[in-house]
Amino acid sequence: MDRIYIFDTTLRDGEQAPGASMTLDQKLAIARQLESLGVDIIEAGFPVSSPYQFETVKAVSREIKNSTIAALCRAVKTDIDKAAEAIEAAARKRIHTFIATSPIHMEHKLKKTPDEVLAMAVEAVRYARNLCPEVEFSAEDGTRSDVDFLCRITEKVIEAGAQIVNIPDTVGYSTPEEYGALIAALRNRVPNIDKAILSVHNHNDLGMAVATSLAGIRNGARQIECTINGIGERAGNAAMEEAVMAMKVRKDLFPYELNIDTRQIFKTSRLVANTIAYPLPKNKAIVGENTFLHESGIHQDGVIKCKQTYEIMKPEDVGREVNNIVLGRHSGRNAILTRIAELGITLSPEETELVYTRFLKVADKKKEVYDEDIFSIVNDELGRQNSFYTMEYFNIISGNNPLIPTATVKLSYNGESYQEAAVGDGPVAAIIRAIDRITGLKTRLTDFNLQAVTPNKNALGEAGVTVLIDGKSYNGRGSSTDILEATAKAYLNAVNNYCIHKNRPEGK
Ligand code: KIV
Ligand code: ZN
Repeated sequence: MDRIYIFDTTLRDGEQAPGASMTLDQKLAIARQLESLGVDIIEAGFPVSSPYQFETVKAVSREIKNSTIAALCRAVKTDIDKAAEAIEAAARKRIHTFIATSPIHMEHKLKKTPDEVLAMAVEAVRYARNLCPEVEFSAEDGTRSDVDFLCRITEKVIEAGAQIVNIPDTVGYSTPEEYGALIAALRNRVPNIDKAILSVHNHNDLGMAVATSLAGIRNGARQIECTINGIGERAGNAAMEEAVMAMKVRKDLFPYELNIDTRQIFKTSRLVANTIAYPLPKNKAIVGENTFLHESGIHQDGVIKCKQTYEIMKPEDVGREVNNIVLGRHSGRNAILTRIAELGITLSPEETELVYTRFLKVADKKKEVYDEDIFSIVNDELGRQNSFYTMEYFNIISGNNPLIPTATVKLSYNGESYQEAAVGDGPVAAIIRAIDRITGLKTRLTDFNLQAVTPNKNALGEAGVTVLIDGKSYNGRGSSTDILEATAKAYLNAVNNYCIHKNRPEGK
């Protein structure tokens, strides 16, 4: 049986989704879970793009043993050197170098002729092969490239030593039929194609990323580049859980071997969604809340009689077994820590203490603590632990006319306390203004949502925000039984994410 390699780029292309930037610890936690999932290759980042990216790729390389660690770089020596250095400690490593091959990119972005691009690609692959035993080449915007040129460059990079050649549909423009034909053309026309693995990489701008990737597989590609929950630039990338389950459920059409332990899918999906504060649509394929629910009487009747009438896969296949244990204030420490581990969350001893103490506080206020509460507590506590700014105190006065909503906020930063007050059209505006006065940052709130973590009256409220700072979006979230406190925490979390990425020790 042929083997399909799963190349996960959640930590690289996925992180390019607006507001999805992750901290080093968060990336490490996701990398560990991707390893448990059985991912063949984890693309950990783009090392030359920032010192932070470099450190993250280095940390993931040190820690992960069973998956190959890939680092992305442009087809230039300085980039390749940085990528090689970042993955040096990895047990299995790959340099992933790319250059655009479409007329529109070559002419307007690179300002280079096709011959110059071809020479750069060949030189980059040759150089990378001297530094790393495994090299992948990507022809960026491959689907809008001239097929003859794509065949020529593929042949030359394989000759130069690339073992994997990836054909990205960078702008999600291709259709399944067209993309399948492109992969077939490469297989038929490139004389040395048997010396390399062809890879697919599809974006979801027209909602066809998974279908297009699978068409590539049906036509001879053997690696899929994808992300958990389909996160990524703009409309995202092909969703790994969908591609994998499509191949598992339709084994008649995809008679291939995969290394993925599908029972880890749900856990991984939740970890990613919770980490970057991207709630999943209820009807998201495979991992959405409604995926295994049956509402209409006819369907319910059918499933009672025979599950397969309306279910093409079992919830257990993707790790969605029902958890019958509801935790509360009387649950023992062991039960709580076991559930946290079952959710795929790894904590250091200090983090365990923080999370456990907070769990007890939450359990005191609400009788039953669900998995979603646990995720929320963990995010909140770990977010705070990595913070530049922490909330010492806040007070809000709000009400109907003639009362003007007013917030007083006290934050600590670098061991000092700072206090400010502000008014606003509403209490949320007042809190944000008071925080901004302390941080001195120019921010714009571009998204704000509030939801109950679980559907009962004494639920934890969870606030999610997206804040634009210095032209880049940062997500934040916070939870509390008080929704204004949850809002303040979420906003501060986004500000802290900005600070982490800017490494901003100065300022107040
Ligand atoms: O979409 C794309 O073209 C990419 C490449 C850099 C592989 O992500
Ligand atoms: Zn991409």
